[in-house]
Amino acid sequence: MVTLEYLVQYAKQTGYIFQGSEIYGGLANTWDYGPLGSLLKRNIKEAWLKRFLREGPNIVGLDSSILLNSLVWQASGHIAGFSDPLIENKTSNQRYRADKLILEHDPNANPDKMTMDEMYDYIIKNNIKDPVSGTTDWLPIRKFNMMFKTHQGVVEDTASEVYLRPETAQGIFINFKNLIRTTRKKIPFGVAQIGKAFRNEITPGNFIFRTREFEQMELEFFCKPGTELQWFDYYLNEMKRFLFDLGIDKDLIRAEPHAVESLAHYSNATTDIEFKYPWGFDELWGLASRTAFDLTQHQNLSKEDMSYLDPETNERYIPYVVEPSVGVERLLLVFLLNGLSEETLENGETRQLLKLHPALAPYKAAILPLVKKEHGEKAQEIYDMLRKEFDVVYDETQNIGKRYRRQDAVGTPFCITVDHQTMIDQTVTVRYRDSMEQERLHISQLENFIRRAIKF
Ligand code: GAP
Repeated sequence: MVTLEYLVQYAKQTGYIFQGSEIYGGLANTWDYGPLGSLLKRNIKEAWLKRFLREGPNIVGLDSSILLNSLVWQASGHIAGFSDPLIENKTSNQRYRADKLILEHDPNANPDKMTMDEMYDYIIKNNIKDPVSGTTDWLPIRKFNMMFKTHQGVVEDTASEVYLRPETAQGIFINFKNLIRTTRKKIPFGVAQIGKAFRNEITPGNFIFRTREFEQMELEFFCKPGTELQWFDYYLNEMKRFLFDLGIDKDLIRAEPHAVESLAHYSNATTDIEFKYPWGFDELWGLASRTAFDLTQHQNLSKEDMSYLDPETNERYIPYVVEPSVGVERLLLVFLLNGLSEETLENGETRQLLKLHPALAPYKAAILPLVKKEHGEKAQEIYDMLRKEFDVVYDETQNIGKRYRRQDAVGTPFCITVDHQTMIDQTVTVRYRDSMEQERLHISQLENFIRRAIKF
């Protein structure tokens, strides 16, 4: 696997990801997605919607707002509890998450079960040093709420305070009654949503792994109490199937169930799907069985009835919820790390290769005239035909070998070359990115060929 430094450079050079606000010296931990990155992001979201919304069991979509009534965050527990333990070193003035410092010192420690004072004592007793100053000159740990606060309207007072949502899930819970009423869905059913979320992370970093602005793809699946663990298993399989079908190496994935004693108070099962990043296994995708916690909290505070009347049994209950939740950028990072390599060819040359499933590849094909003057017009014609259906690219600069390499490096699965033979019999060569093998196809076959390849 390539290093993170290599990937950052690669992403910048190719147009996948640029440093945010670069011309002003940058804004730490913000990233802009270039022509290729924005297409890859879109394709990841479309793949997720296909599997988790369209092909899922009784799922509908939603697009709820980023700014919500602050009572939502009171009910959900975010105002009181969405905080990380912050510890500051007096010498370096650097701030860290105390739980992360403890886990870096001993991966088997369990800071989730420690109070702030216990974490502080642990850090002092174990002589854990600030990586920057090398001292143990620590200030007491304090809770740091990660929600971004702003003001709505012209008056900046407490009454106008609002938060940018730290997760998209609550927008689904607060619309539960609207969703039941308008869709007439019966339980079990689910709601899928993609949208921006914001967290004032203490230690963002590792490129796009942890940022303060990111996009979540969340599914809240409502089911009858007692059936939630079945759905939990179902979704764990679906998450793995999604990753493996899109080409993620099985050896780089593991499912880590949370120990019962470290489950959040509202959860009766939680498993993280982890990926082996350059720094080791870390979270990719969370799956939580959230019981009736969220709907009950909103019922209690809003006084709106969140119960569901089962039309078959006449039972009334608050549904249980199973929630797979993943960040778009984190998946994008995983697809790049999983797919990018430098390959040595038989002739001793190296090529940069990005193996992406055709469904995800930003460009499905590159259309290349072998000789611009002779084949340019025909190639342009094919490009115009294909771009009505797919994201494809036209390239006529430099020799054909260089053009192949350029497409290999950005993950384009097929190069379609127009040559002398094309002028005679309307066939083109199709070169496969991974095997570099070539075959001839008739121009009229191209559309179906690409359509079949991008299916997953
Ligand atoms: N509604 C549940 C929830 O938000 P989470 O584990 O806090 O759960 C879910 O977040 C997923 O969102 C994570 O598994 C990760 O993929 C992504 N995510 C969370 N915080 C992130 C951050 N700061 N930057 C990028 N992605 C993040």
